[in-house]
Amino acid sequence: LTERGKRIPLDNSPLQIFVKAKKKINDIFGEIEEYVKDTVDYMHEVEKDGKIVNSDQVKNTEEYVGKVHSIRDVLQRDHMKVAFFGRTSNGKSSVINAMLRDKILPSGIGHTTNCFLQVEGSPSDEPYLVLEGSEEHCAVESVGQLAHALCKEKLNESSLVKVYWPKNRCLLLRDDVVFVDSPGVDVTPNLDEWIDKHCLDADVFVLVANAESTLMVTEKNFFHKVSTKLSKPNIFILNNRWDASASEPEFLDQVRKQHQERAVDFLVKELKVCTPREAEERIFFISAKEVLQARMSEGKPISVPLTEGFQTRYFEFQDFEKKFEECISKSAVRTKFEQHSQRGKYIANELRDILEGIYSDALKLKEEKLAERKELNDKINYTEQQLMVVTQEMKKKIHSMVEDVEQRVSKALSE
Ligand code: GTP
Ligand code: MG
Repeated sequence: LTERGKRIPLDNSPLQIFVKAKKKINDIFGEIEEYVKDTVDYMHEVEKDGKIVNSDQVKNTEEYVGKVHSIRDVLQRDHMKVAFFGRTSNGKSSVINAMLRDKILPSGIGHTTNCFLQVEGSPSDEPYLVLEGSEEHCAVESVGQLAHALCKEKLNESSLVKVYWPKNRCLLLRDDVVFVDSPGVDVTPNLDEWIDKHCLDADVFVLVANAESTLMVTEKNFFHKVSTKLSKPNIFILNNRWDASASEPEFLDQVRKQHQERAVDFLVKELKVCTPREAEERIFFISAKEVLQARMSEGKPISVPLTEGFQTRYFEFQDFEKKFEECISKSAVRTKFEQHSQRGKYIANELRDILEGIYSDALKLKEEKLAERKELNDKINYTEQQLMVVTQEMKKKIHSMVEDVEQRVSKALSE
């Protein structure tokens, strides 16, 4: 535990699948960027010669620099996104707070969530929020201040307020999980707008249901709409307020069974997003309020008496968190990085083709030059031979002329 009573980062969390994959793919794209830049520099050198590459080819290759750069930008910002939905007061904000181990989002009476709130990690030590359409960082020290800032502004229910929370205060935020809290699905006619604006890039959805009642048509409708726009969304169902069951232990098993069957039917038969076996790993009975209280008082003496069955509900919440982390991490790697790695492969192949093209053009040019040189050499050799023949003949002629003259001279002398 740290001084503040928080868990020390453990790197065997399932979220590390995403974190490590993100680092790896970012490194690979860093190398691809170097590779593209080297290729462009090399082509500029070769272009000077004017025989192997032309300016169009160089321009085409230069375009890859920008492309790779923008992919790197997107990759650096990639995160895992989880969105929470459910009817008003079911405990959406409380579940997020329990997972973040701190009272970050306003919840409870007078703190109804009235717009979309996104909580994400920030490298700075102080929390702040940014309203939609604004760049201004508004400092927030406490939940009270955050709630006040949200009430003060006249916000549209579909608008988004981003809360930047120091990464060093929370493991999930450090590991690139972004949380989206929403107003109750029963308070808006604009579900389509919500989905288009906030849900299309979500990796996991959490339906926070109320275990004291049953799944409502409004909640079901919302997820029917989501699953028409996204193929097989990952949905978890939390039956929150399960602590209420402690007051009626005689019905506990029966009620749980009934909720469980209905939730499985909803995921498997209605939405058709998972198999019955998978559904068993997606439905949990928890109490966000208790978990939050317990986590906030870690390291301090227990102030409120624990309700019967607290430990079981707490373990079930931890189980939910584990399954959630595995699911979001794997799903985000698949959806976020698969496309980019295809794109990276494509670019690397294109560059290899370009360089191979240059190489084979250069070879052709070399062969042409060699052929030209051979022709020239042959000509020189021929001329040399001719010259030799002529020289030999001349030598012979001169020789016989000299002999002839000598003979004549000696003959004249003897006469
Ligand atoms: P809206 O933002 O208004 O849509 O509500 P919400 O879904 O965010 O619910 P919120 O987290 O604000 O919780 C509503 C009230 O329910 C608060 O007073 C919580 O303390 C309480 N609550 C949340 N979870 C539990 C729980 O597990 N058990 C009990 N008993 N109360 C809970
Ligand atoms: Mg709320």
